[in-house]
Amino acid sequence: MAAVILDGKKLSIKIRESVKTKAALLKEKGVTPCLAVVLVGDDPASLSYVKSKEKALADAGMESLDIKLPQETSEEALLAVIEDLNKNDKVHGILVQSPVPKHINEETVNSAVAPEKDVDCFHPVSVGNMVLERPGFLPCTPHGILMLLNEYNVKTSGAHAVIIGRSNIVGKPLANLLIRRNYNATVTICHTGTENLAKHTLQADILMAAAGKPCFIKPEMVKEGAAVIDVGINRVPDISAQKGYRVCGDVDPSVEQKAGYFTPVPGGVGPMTIAMLLSNVIEAAAAFAAKSACTAAYT
Ligand code: GUN
Repeated sequence: MAAVILDGKKLSIKIRESVKTKAALLKEKGVTPCLAVVLVGDDPASLSYVKSKEKALADAGMESLDIKLPQETSEEALLAVIEDLNKNDKVHGILVQSPVPKHINEETVNSAVAPEKDVDCFHPVSVGNMVLERPGFLPCTPHGILMLLNEYNVKTSGAHAVIIGRSNIVGKPLANLLIRRNYNATVTICHTGTENLAKHTLQADILMAAAGKPCFIKPEMVKEGAAVIDVGINRVPDISAQKGYRVCGDVDPSVEQKAGYFTPVPGGVGPMTIAMLLSNVIEAAAAFAAKSACTAAYT
């Protein structure tokens, strides 16, 4: 039996409609939600992601401040740009597209963004708040995946979730959210040091692939009926394609025949990441509006 498709595109449209309504309400209060999008260098995949994010912001009636910096930008210069954005009251969220060039320390950059504008949830304070279940932003891709599981009633409580990949953006935060009591999953994280990967993946009720390896997960690695979440967005050279490449996930498309639930690539996790980013920008702008109203009342 073919899998139920977890349609991230469809759910993301619903979320983006609600974001649009909230943006309009904030605008009525004089606050237009605005995300600063910083891109260093001209990596084609990053350029394309940044464009999608900016289009989504415009569609939702939000603003973006587009900052493109050359590849050779120094870390010091990038930190100065971030500092200006931190102080800019018109900017409610700041996103520095990852990866940054190798001569720039990504951790230093992530730590420079003011936590109240850290809509990516990359700052150590944001990560700490997330792990401790304190109020704050949730990381976009993991949050988007959980929204998708919830929308299609995929049971997480008591389920064994196996995550492939230990990145700061996906694997680590996803594991942390899944063990919260409201999701209540048992989590295994596999990585490049894992021996006999298939032994682990075959035990997964929910298998989440975030390894950055095209078509890496094959049907023989998946338990019949499992929910398979593909976080990969890989560009694979393809001379028959108009752009010279095609996009594929970390999961071989033939896995769909064995899975119970399956996220397509494109149209699965990708659109959910953008929807949750917009949602975080709204949260940041709403917090700013509330703070400004308070300050106005007491001055
Ligand atoms: N690069 C890949 N995914 C992301 C993301 O969610 N945020 C940022 N800033 N960069 C990325």
